[in-house]
Amino acid sequence: MRILVTGGAGFIGSNFIFYMRKAHPDCRIVCIDKLTYAGDLSTLAPVMEDPDFRFVRADICDRAAVYSLFEEEEPEIVVNFAAESHVDRSIEDPEIFLRTNILGTQVLLDACRKFGTERFHQVSTDEVYGDLPLDRPELFFTEETPLSPSSPYSSSKASADLLVQAYYRTYGLPVSISRCSNNYGPYQFPEKLIPLMIANALSGKSLPVYGQGLNVRDWLYVEDHCRAIGLIVTKGRPGEVYNVGGHNEMRNIDIVKLICQELGKPESLIVHVEDRKGHDLRYAIDPAKISRELGWLPETKFQDGLKKTIRWYLDNRSWWERIVSGEYQDYYKKMYGSRIRL
Ligand code: NAD
Ligand code: DAU
Repeated sequence: MRILVTGGAGFIGSNFIFYMRKAHPDCRIVCIDKLTYAGDLSTLAPVMEDPDFRFVRADICDRAAVYSLFEEEEPEIVVNFAAESHVDRSIEDPEIFLRTNILGTQVLLDACRKFGTERFHQVSTDEVYGDLPLDRPELFFTEETPLSPSSPYSSSKASADLLVQAYYRTYGLPVSISRCSNNYGPYQFPEKLIPLMIANALSGKSLPVYGQGLNVRDWLYVEDHCRAIGLIVTKGRPGEVYNVGGHNEMRNIDIVKLICQELGKPESLIVHVEDRKGHDLRYAIDPAKISRELGWLPETKFQDGLKKTIRWYLDNRSWWERIVSGEYQDYYKKMYGSRIRL
């Protein structure tokens, strides 16, 4: 099996590469990544010397670079993780989100058509469905829920999903889409809720919770997401969308308190700050289709996954301390410096 993974130097893409090396040791993996602020080549150190792994630094929007890689490697499967992925950054500056997430996807789709790739898989998100109210716990996102994105990030992901479906209908390109809920685990960039709170708590910094922290996310350990994608690209039906989530809804404030408890840090570090603009209230995935068709079920319970994740950040301080000491400082000042405390 020859697989091209885009965005493999980021959080989920790198975990997917590690997962596939274990689950399918005979596969060849080529990773293409632009190495934006969110990509880190050191993350891929465990596979870099592997003869069945190749890393290429390139932008998925660079058609010539993408086509020449397809010509050389003839991938049978393409899994597209490459994206601008942070909602707060998309609110500050949407343009790069449209470029990478939509136009980059289109270049990959064209390459798959041109070179006869057997499966293009788009790693999408539950955020394309918009949000659910807090007072209707019986509601869940199914694959039939209409797309209704709220942020520039989720709009760009929804646009890419529509393009992927159009290439299936118009050109018969064998595609699939997974829409997963919030992931957590090793190698997540510390701009996202869980690693940001762990890194801040370990550095004795305040823990900025947006609004009252009552927004709900549906958390899934990253390896469970990777296993779902592995199943979809090998056994899933072309043209289909699969929702991925583990029925693990948590309020943000409860997650931050749990992190304080696990690290033995005081809850007095928590500060409530000005809310995110257009902040989605609740995400909740119904994963019945992937369970029924592909036998997927989450394996890691949240309490265990959070412990493993915290352990990883404690054992790999150099990975995230290097990140937070660089240009991240400017990001942090810009995003949090002027945020009003509630
Ligand atoms: P991430 O930000 O950690 O990693 C993104 C990677 O893509 C980085 O390595 C970056 O260098 C690379 N990249 C960005 N622009 C590129 C370009 N133009 N060309 C090539 N490479 C480029 O993101 P993540 O959290 O690992 O998310 C991966 C994918 O999964 C995204 O498509 C995201 O929308 C989706 N997703 C994420 C979550 C989550 O909770 N993190 C949940 C569901 C879906
Ligand atoms: O649902 C899947 C999505 O999950 C992915 O598509 C996105 O790529 C990923 O970034 C994530 O989006 P969220 O916006 O849900 O994740 P984030 O970690 O940014 O925020 C989680 C919740 O925590 C959200 O309600 C906002 C809140 N939050 C976040 C940060 C960074 C805070 O209260 N304080 C913070 O400092």
